[in-house]
Amino acid sequence: MNRKPIFAANWKMNKGASETEDFIKSFLSKLQGHDFPCEIVIAPPFISLPKLADLLHTATAGQNAHAIQIAAQNCSQYDAGAYTGEVSVVMLREFFVHFVILGHSERRAIFGETDAIINAKMKKAREANLKPIFCIGETLAEREGGNLERVLRTQVTEGLKGLTEKDMAESVIAYEPVWAIGTGVTATSQQAQDAHAFVRSLVADLYGAETAARIRIQYGGSVKPNNAAELMACPDIDGALIGGAALEPQSFLEIIRNGTIPAAE
Ligand code: PGA
Repeated sequence: MNRKPIFAANWKMNKGASETEDFIKSFLSKLQGHDFPCEIVIAPPFISLPKLADLLHTATAGQNAHAIQIAAQNCSQYDAGAYTGEVSVVMLREFFVHFVILGHSERRAIFGETDAIINAKMKKAREANLKPIFCIGETLAEREGGNLERVLRTQVTEGLKGLTEKDMAESVIAYEPVWAIGTGVTATSQQAQDAHAFVRSLVADLYGAETAARIRIQYGGSVKPNNAAELMACPDIDGALIGGAALEPQSFLEIIRNGTIPAAE
């Protein structure tokens, strides 16, 4: 199955509008002349989405082979109304947002998002035709306690409840071991490959072999220019969700370049 890798920058709570502009100008100039065999996505904070949309829609007009796609880092599970501090899927659509990161471990651990909340957000995202980047992953204690598969099975089963095969065709999964996020410790390529193969088997159980073979599963957790090639060479790894190393245009570009070399050969 030929799956196009997808590299997404998760900026987290970094880069307001002016830093977004600096990044994009530099990144687009570095990207010039390249046509990497992958999709490129950037997820800035909500407040920077209008600026990003503006920059990309003027800059990509004919200049770049690569159209960069825009992701939000979260969305509300509600439509509109008295939900102070929330942002709806319809509002996101106004700024050319096509993807939304859901279920990130920081949302789960710091903001108390449960599998049920994440599931409600997944459904709301799909109603608005947004493509979820659905994040899952175990803590170190869960892995060391022998609970890796149980944790991933619960997150997948509960998070995807009620979603259809068509929804899955428009979704991406990001496997991000919590112990590897922002720590500089990466899963070995064998650990990552094993987890990805297991997640793909869970999707097969729920949606059948064809959907499982098609869905892209990104790896996330301390992806850097120097480990991207080895991780991306694994058969079940289809791109990366990158935090810290995607804050600099040069290192994001090097991850994409190094990570797509095996696929291009
Ligand atoms: P990191 O973050 O690359 O800084 O480890 C990844 C993520 O949280 O998506």
